Formats: sequence, C-alpha cells, structure tokens
Amino acid sequence: MKRGFFLTFEGLDGSGKSTQLRRLAAHLRNSGRPVREMRQPGGTGFGDKVRALLLAEKGQTAIAPRAELAMMFADRAQAIAEVIEPALEAGELLLCDRWTDSTEAYQGGGRALGAEVVHRLHAEVCGGLQPNLTVLLLPPLEVSLQRARRRNERVQAQTGRDESRFEAESEAFFRRSYAQYEAIAAREAVRVVVMKEDEPVELIHARIVRVVEDRLAGWTRPELQ
Ligand code: TMP
Repeated sequence: MKRGFFLTFEGLDGSGKSTQLRRLAAHLRNSGRPVREMRQPGGTGFGDKVRALLLAEKGQTAIAPRAELAMMFADRAQAIAEVIEPALEAGELLLCDRWTDSTEAYQGGGRALGAEVVHRLHAEVCGGLQPNLTVLLLPPLEVSLQRARRRNERVQAQTGRDESRFEAESEAFFRRSYAQYEAIAAREAVRVVVMKEDEPVELIHARIVRVVEDRLAGWTRPELQ
C-alpha cells in the first residue's frame, strides 16, 4: 500500500494557520478526499495533558526551556506512535497543525536553544520524520502579534481558559522565532512553501489550494490506484 501524505501548517500565533488548515481540510473533503486532522502539542490523550501543562497561563507552571523542549518531543513521540505512523502506514492524507519546525522556531529561535539540538532530538525521537509538504504562513510580525493577543482575550472572555504562556512572551522572543522560520524556509525551499502576504483569508486559501493540489497530483489515494 502506498504511504500516506503528511502535510503540516506552520507559523507564529495569529498567523492564520489554523483557519487555513480547517479551510483546506474542508476543500479536500468536498473534493472527495478524506483527511485526518491533528495538532501539536496535543492530538492524543497524553498530548492533550502535555498541551495543558505547556500552555498554562504564564506564571502558573514554571517550565525551564530545556524541559519545554523535551515536552514538545515527548508529545510528538506519542503522536507518532498513536496517530501519525498508523495513518501514514494506512495511506491516509494527514494534516497537522504544527510539527518540528515549530520547535525549531520557538525553542530553537525564541528560547535561543539553537537549531542543532532540535535537529538532534528530532532525529533521535522522531526518526527524522518530516512532512511531504509544509505551508508556512509568515505575515509581518506585527500582524500576527496583534491577532494572537486579540484572540487570546476573546477566548479568555468566552471560556475562562488562558492559553497565553506563549502569547505573553516578549516581542524579542517572537522576532527570534520569526527569523528562525525564515531560516527554515531558506534551507528547505522544496518542502516548505512560504506565504508572507497579509491578504484576505479567501485569497490565501485559494493560493494554498493551488500549491496543495499541485503536490497531491503526484500522490493518489491508494484505493484509486
Ligand atoms: P497553537 O496555538 O498553534 O496550537 O500552538 C500552541 C503554542 O505552542 C504556540 O504558541 C507555539 C507553541 N509551540 C512551541 O513552542 N513549540 C512546539 O514545538 C509546538 C508544536 C508549539
């Protein structure tokens, strides 16, 4: 059986990636291709607990940068064992909101741990598993920051939940994360497709559909072969 297709969305908080992932999943389903959706951190019972710890309100849980790094990989190892490897093995089309590029951007860049340690852990813990395609949304930093803060206030007002540990980081933190995303895009120009424009959701969606359809053309669902 042909191996599945692994597609990830990346970007800073407020970049619009989760909205775009949902739109793309709907488009793919409407055109008859079932997709499975995942997110990181989270997506498994264990991962959801890790997510709650990682994103807890700033000050609630003190987490050292290397502990944070290790937790991201613990979450990912569980996701691979429980969801990702079985899905790819079964030939599925898998959409994941964030992957190791996020760790390189946030822990490698933002927390200044460097990309090297992230690459080493990725090789050891994840067997180097990389997506077939990554859509990186990288609108100007100020746009993402503003959107993320507004959304956090809204979610907090509506649900009382506060997942602001990262949103509360300094602008310098996000500047370093942004720069690391740019470095990833420059290094992996084939796997990573970058969208830097701050454009309406519909326009970006249409561009993502074109790129994804193009890449999927070389990958057909096994039952159709
Ligand atoms: P989300 O809001 O896109 O679900 O992401 C949750 C937060 O976790 C976001 O601020 C980025 C952060 N994060 C990391 O710092 N490193 C990682 O490896 C991942 C997957 C997420």
